[in-house]
Amino acid sequence: MAILPILEVPDPRLRRISEPVAEVTDGIRALIADMFETMYAAPGIGLAAAQVDRPIRLLVMDLGDGPPDAEGKGTRNPRVFINPEILEPSEELGVYNEGCLSVPDQFAEVERPARIRARWLDQDGVAHEAVLEGLAATCLQHEMDHLNGILFIDHLSRLKRSMLLRKLEKARREKAAA
Ligand code: NI
Repeated sequence: MAILPILEVPDPRLRRISEPVAEVTDGIRALIADMFETMYAAPGIGLAAAQVDRPIRLLVMDLGDGPPDAEGKGTRNPRVFINPEILEPSEELGVYNEGCLSVPDQFAEVERPARIRARWLDQDGVAHEAVLEGLAATCLQHEMDHLNGILFIDHLSRLKRSMLLRKLEKARREKAAA
């Protein structure tokens, strides 16, 4: 396994439209393992293949909402979504303070459908269909945006987006000077 470099704004490769996965091969499963390692190391709760320069319709997610451990804390719950589709978004909207490993350390509230019915393949190529809600719904929609070259900052007003990108540039300059 390997930790992969994560593309960051304004890298134009983040704007590509990802291609469907034709077949879930061992190569894809190796990429999935690397993506989980990369996401856990970052750390993050979701990562699209597009963010590690592989423009295919694959994303991973772990909300840490697995069965509670001895201390009652949530455990890892790795989930893989290949060729995901949203079938029914709810009219009701939910708001989360979103962040993104490609827009490091910047956060903003984004409104999205609160519940979605989705369909996808897992790492064994098995089809699933389920209703996701709350953070899982937000995370899946955020990561699916990456497959279409869209970032969460695109959902903000022009003013909010430019403020956030200026903050990111300032943080980068300070880091480079440190
Ligand atoms: Ni993201």
